[in-house]
Amino acid sequence: MHSTRARVPAAPAPALGVATERVEGRDKVTGTARYAGEHAHTPPDCAYAWPVPATVACGRVTSVDTAAALALPGTLAVLTPGTAPRLGEADDPTLAVLQDDAVPHRGWYVALAVAETLEDARAAAAAVGVTYAAEPHDVTLTEDHPDAYRPDLANGGQAAVRERGDAEGAFAAAPVRVDVTYRVPPLHNHPMEPHAAFARWDGEGDGVRLTVYDSSQGANPVRKTLAALFRLPEDRVTVVSEHVGGGFGSKGTPRPHVVLAAMAARHTGRPVKLALPRNHLAAVVGHRAPTIQRVRLGAGSDGTLLSLSHEVTTHTSRVKEFVEQAGVPARVMYASPHSLTDHHVAPLDVPTPSWMRAPGEAPGMYALESAMDELADAVGLDPVELRVRNEPATEPDSGLPFSSRNLVACLREGARRFGWADRDPRPAARREGRWLTGTGVAAATYPVLVSPSTATATALHDGGYDIRVNATDIGTGARTVLAQVAADVLGVAVDSVSIGIGSTRLPRAPLAGGSSGTASWGWAVHRACTRLAERLARHTGPLPAEGVTASADTTAETERTPPFARHAFGAHFAEVQVDTGTGEVRVRRLTGVYAAGRILNPRTARSQFIGGMIMGLGMALTEHSTMDPAFGGFAERDLASYHVPSHADVPEIDAHWVEEDDPHLNPMGSKGIGEIGIVGTPAAIGNALHHATGVRFRELPLTPDRVL
Ligand code: MOS
Repeated sequence: MHSTRARVPAAPAPALGVATERVEGRDKVTGTARYAGEHAHTPPDCAYAWPVPATVACGRVTSVDTAAALALPGTLAVLTPGTAPRLGEADDPTLAVLQDDAVPHRGWYVALAVAETLEDARAAAAAVGVTYAAEPHDVTLTEDHPDAYRPDLANGGQAAVRERGDAEGAFAAAPVRVDVTYRVPPLHNHPMEPHAAFARWDGEGDGVRLTVYDSSQGANPVRKTLAALFRLPEDRVTVVSEHVGGGFGSKGTPRPHVVLAAMAARHTGRPVKLALPRNHLAAVVGHRAPTIQRVRLGAGSDGTLLSLSHEVTTHTSRVKEFVEQAGVPARVMYASPHSLTDHHVAPLDVPTPSWMRAPGEAPGMYALESAMDELADAVGLDPVELRVRNEPATEPDSGLPFSSRNLVACLREGARRFGWADRDPRPAARREGRWLTGTGVAAATYPVLVSPSTATATALHDGGYDIRVNATDIGTGARTVLAQVAADVLGVAVDSVSIGIGSTRLPRAPLAGGSSGTASWGWAVHRACTRLAERLARHTGPLPAEGVTASADTTAETERTPPFARHAFGAHFAEVQVDTGTGEVRVRRLTGVYAAGRILNPRTARSQFIGGMIMGLGMALTEHSTMDPAFGGFAERDLASYHVPSHADVPEIDAHWVEEDDPHLNPMGSKGIGEIGIVGTPAAIGNALHHATGVRFRELPLTPDRVL
């Protein structure tokens, strides 16, 4: 006999703001959490695919000899530009794989081997003979590249150029001038889990269905793209991204592997698995484009900015325009009566760049915050005070009021925690043996983004609650925080909430990107749970067997948000030591203080902040991809040559935040936290290196060969 429960307790247990452990943590550490390449439903007739990358940087394929590959045991098929299924229209030209003979960059896929086993497929791919008509390539970005043009938009969204007043004239007339150029090399995302997909076709004719397991940051965008490419209604395509081993932007859009897996399955009539080897990633899943950034700061002798200009030159591929929006954060940061932010992009014979954690902000704030440090030097002002002095009353470029802006509080709290007050401002003053020590500071910002989402909330017959939303957990703790949002609204314990994410069978939701996931999905979960609670409050007697469900769609609500400039802010402090014998730079301490709205889960939030700071440490000291001008490709294609920080590189990290109560965000009051941690870290480390040595280094990474 089922008894009626009190569904909405008089004193709801707070679930938000509590350091809840990851709800899927046990599954992950015990290996029961399955990723796209290893999911539990691999059928016995599964075949394997292995793509063949182009070995020239520019030209076309003249012939593909498949005889040797087809003669190998286990080979099922070799797809070539001549024999692969024809695809429908895609918005993203990097997905038009095997559709023509053009080779726009080294590593572009020119064939696909399909075989009985992974090893057979790899051997078949190696046996495919491709001949090319190669043409001369140009892969070298220069400041004044003749093909560079000013795009309409940077990163698909922001205007490429914005000017207020007369930046040039005001700079020329300023009593103090800093005119510096910073360089950031190409960088690669390299998530722990390389891109992988499993694809299966079922049914015939009008009943045909495509099911895909993909390592992606958003299953809904993958479904939309596959439906267009394979000319299917979206409801005939299912995409599952249940657990994802990182992405950092490289899984934010569908990638060629998932298209190839679906093609191979279509062509062979077999379910097909395709896991990219790591040494393919550099060419086919995006990278952070290199930037050459000229920053000009004109100021009064008291450090008050009179003119701020930030001009960015970057590259894209010949396939698709992607513009690293490094000048965009300068539109947010400091008051200046005159300002110019501008972007130019040169299409080269290089792989297509894409999002990498804080695209735009990470390289852009490296240059701007390094230049601010140079200005602090030039006017003899403490770099924290220089930033405080140039705080804007409203967002400089738009004139909009900030929904909240607590950069000064972050700088002050960071300075206190770090012990900044004791700093001797003179450079190269702290020497112990062969080590020089210095400290540096930099500010950080990242926009508050949100997208419409849907969700359902069900009160189950057994007293539990079921939340469904096609969110993606790329390692951030999305399941956990969404369960907390639900529990908080419903006034129940987090462990009474079960949460379903990571499948297009669930209510439609946007991708995990732009630090917008929690705000977007959480908003819909919040609304669905609010509605459910209202329904339950009116409900008397036992629940029906199917439970009681409420759903929400935030499209209208997210589009009506009042005009505010919404951004998270932060302050980064670093202490570094330089070995004067070897030029090795060691980061000894890092402090990050953030103002990012309400922190919904201190445990997973700290993990995000620390992860961003470690990625920033890598960007500062060790990470770079070399575009080899002769070879026409990225030289570093594994984790032995592309150096991400290891445990031994990472010091004690203090990640902290200030309380921020911002009513203009979303029902939870949160800002995004996934990207801001990387933003100020490289400049803080670079500025500390200057303080240690008295020398300005203006090109990342700060490797011993440059520093010595
Ligand atoms: Mo992130 S670079 O927006 O996936």
